[in-house]
Amino acid sequence: MTIAILGGYGAVGATAARRLAAHDGNPIRVGGRNLRSASALCEELGENASAHVVDLTDSRSLATFCAGATVVLNCAGPSYRVLDTVALAARAADAHYVDVAGDQPLFRRLDALPPSDRLAVISAGVMPGLTAILPRGLLGDDPARTGIDLHVGGPVRITPVSAQDILLATGPDFGAPLASWRDGEVVQGSVSPQWNVSLPHFGPAVHALPYLTTESADFARHHDIGEHRSYSVYVSERIPTTLATAWAESPDDPTAWAGELAKAATEDLSEHAPRYTILVRRHDLDHQTPPAWRLLQTTDPYRLSGVVAALTVQAVLASKSTGTHPAWRFLDPQEIWTTLADDPLCHTETHGLACTAPELKA
Ligand SMILES: NC(=O)c1ccc[n+]([C@@H]2O[C@H](COP(=O)([O-])OP(=O)(O)OC[C@H]3O[C@@H](n4cnc5c(N)ncnc54)[C@H](OP(=O)(O)O)[C@@H]3O)[C@@H](O)[C@H]2O)c1
Repeated sequence: MTIAILGGYGAVGATAARRLAAHDGNPIRVGGRNLRSASALCEELGENASAHVVDLTDSRSLATFCAGATVVLNCAGPSYRVLDTVALAARAADAHYVDVAGDQPLFRRLDALPPSDRLAVISAGVMPGLTAILPRGLLGDDPARTGIDLHVGGPVRITPVSAQDILLATGPDFGAPLASWRDGEVVQGSVSPQWNVSLPHFGPAVHALPYLTTESADFARHHDIGEHRSYSVYVSERIPTTLATAWAESPDDPTAWAGELAKAATEDLSEHAPRYTILVRRHDLDHQTPPAWRLLQTTDPYRLSGVVAALTVQAVLASKSTGTHPAWRFLDPQEIWTTLADDPLCHTETHGLACTAPELKA
C-alpha cells in the first residue's frame, strides 16, 4: 500500500513521513519541487522511501506522483489556494485522500462530487483537526445541556506557507469573530475579547480573542451542543494587530503580509519559550455535575499536525468507509487522545472525568 506525501519534507509533511515510515513497511513517496530536500529525508527514512519532484500546479507531474498510490496525503499549501487540486488528482488515480487542512472550501467541493468508493478525510491536523477531535472526546451523555469552552494558541513559529493560510482564512467559510454557538445556532457578537487576562496553562497576561471556526460550529451543530465558545490565545498584540492590519489594508490579497506575520511570531518567541496549548473545558449548563477538562501542550504544532495526519492515513488504510469527512467526524476521539497521551511530542492532562487507565500517562 503506497503512501504518496505531497509536501513531504515540509514542516508538517516531514513528521507525517517519519511517523508513517516508522509505523510499517509501506512504500512512501516524498514529493515536492526540490529533489535535494526530498532525497535528504528519504535517506533518513530508509529503503522504503522514494524522492519525487512534483509541482502541484503542473497537472501531469501531479498525476504521475499520484499514480499507483493507495493514499495521497497532501501537506503542501497554501491550502486555501491549493483547494481541491491534489484531491482531484488523487481521485483520478483511484487513491484515498487525506489533507492536513482544507476546511469548508475543500469540503464543499469534494462533497459535491459524484459518490466514489474512495475516502477523503480533510482538516486532519491540529487546527483544524484536534480542535474538534478533543472536544468531541469530552462530550458527556447530554450534549444539549453541555457547554464546551476551547482555548487554543501560544507562542510558536509560523512558517511562510502557513502564514499565507492564516491570512487567507477570513470570512464566513472559516469562522466568525466574537461569535459563539448557543441553543442550535451561531450567535454573533455574543462573546467579548479578553485582553491581558491570566489563563491557566497559558500564562499571566495573554489575550483571548473569541473566534468560532466553522469547524467548531459544525461540531456543535452535529452533536446538538448547548453552548460552544472558542478563543484564540496570543501572548502579545503582535499577531492580532498584524492580521487586522493585513485584512484592512490588503483585503484582496492579504498573503503579501505573510512575512510580517511570521516575523510577529518570531518576535513573540524572543520573549517566550515555544508552547502551543489546547485547553478544552466541559461544563454542565444546569450545574449538576462538576466541570471536566483536557489539556494538550506541545512545542511544535506543525509536527503535531504531522502526527495527526499520519494517524489519519493509518485509519484510512484500516477503514472500509467511503465518502468525504472532516477528521473530527472520521477519527475515534478516544483512540486519538490515548495515542497522543503516550506521544513524546505532547504533554496531556485530564481532570474531572471518571477516566479509565488508558487516558492517563503511565
Ligand atoms: N491543520 C493544521 O493544524 C495545520 C498546521 C500547520 C500547517 N497546516 C497546513 O499544512 C500545509 C503545509 O504547511 P507547512 O507549514 O508544513 O508548510 P511548509 O513547511 O512550507 O511545507 C510545504 C511543503 O509543500 C511543498 N510545496 C509547496 N508548494 C508546492 C508545489 N507547488 N508543488 C509541490 N509541492 C509544493 C514544499 O516544498 P517546495 O516548496 O520545495 O516545493 C514543502 O515540502 C499548509 O497548507 C498549512 O496551512 C495545517
